[in-house]
Amino acid sequence: MKKSLRKLETKCTRNGSFLSDILSLEINIENIKLRNPFILASGILDVTPSLFFRVASSGAGAIVTKTVTLEERKGFDNPVITDAPCGLINSMGLPNPGIKYFVNKYVKSIIDKIDIPIILSIGPSSVKDVYEMSNIVLDSGLKWIEINASCPHVKGHGLTVLGDESMLGEIIRVTKKKLSNFLIFVKISAHITNLAKIAETIFSSGADGIVAINTLRAIAIDIWSKKPILGGIFGGLSGPAIKPVALRCVYELYQYFPEKVIIGVGGISSWRDAIEFFLAGASAIQIGSVIAFKDLNIFKELNDGVIKYLNKEGYDSINEIIGLAHRF
Ligand SMILES: Cc1cc2nc3c(=O)[nH]c(=O)nc-3n(C[C@H](O)[C@H](O)[C@H](O)COP(=O)(O)O)c2cc1C
Repeated sequence: MKKSLRKLETKCTRNGSFLSDILSLEINIENIKLRNPFILASGILDVTPSLFFRVASSGAGAIVTKTVTLEERKGFDNPVITDAPCGLINSMGLPNPGIKYFVNKYVKSIIDKIDIPIILSIGPSSVKDVYEMSNIVLDSGLKWIEINASCPHVKGHGLTVLGDESMLGEIIRVTKKKLSNFLIFVKISAHITNLAKIAETIFSSGADGIVAINTLRAIAIDIWSKKPILGGIFGGLSGPAIKPVALRCVYELYQYFPEKVIIGVGGISSWRDAIEFFLAGASAIQIGSVIAFKDLNIFKELNDGVIKYLNKEGYDSINEIIGLAHRF
């Protein structure tokens, strides 16, 4: 009754259009408040301070930085990106200036000035790496770390870490112990058949949440040169092509761990896609490749679209629809 009355008021006050400030998309991920659940995914944009501010003013709820490693990495030779049907294949090779430089030069200069959370993505290749990285992050002003355990094209990082469950567990335990006041999320891949078991390891090692999924290992071949197109040979497929796989992972994770925080990412290109992820069990979502096609306007489109959907369906908050697709 209350909901239908509210909908009526909405229609009366704004001439048929939905009143966007009736509903706030604000959420809490553990102790951190997000003004909305739409987060810039890792590696999609170069993250200079001015871009951080552009992303914030375009309406994103939080920003994940590109993945940084302990030491500087140059990345792979060009070409590092190519088109695929319904997506992109990238083989960047985790280029970054190293965590110390990145945190000191970029993060520290903006962390107190920007009004949305910055999530630092780290790509350790060993327990020793993460120990040293944690020391660097400790007094940076950051509060949230995403461990990249899923990059599909850089040997020794990402998928290599995910494939070694005992190292993965130890990496999480060390990070959580050293950064006890931080949120620690682990970004996983769909390249595993034992999703429930790995998720159990991740949560029992102290992670606060899981981000699913990274790109899918892929390749493209030029028929005239008869060679792989990408400098790094293998790359990662992203964009709408991977959406059903990402959605499946989120759905399964929620089935096993309905009380845990799951962040969905993979091919989300519209507010309809976003709603699917919330219904599957995502508490928040990350936005990646679509930015290449729609620019940063996607954040406003998502905010407006999801608010209209919630109003139309009679919900008071985004929390009311999380995991609803599991009722049947
Ligand atoms: C050019 C490019 C660079 C990326 N770099 C990273 C990275 O540094 N770290 C990471 O965890 N994921 C990285 N990703 C993966 C994205 O964060 C995201 O998980 C993936 O692209 C799926 O989302 P999407 O289909 O919305 O793009 C990258 C993706 C692209 C397209």
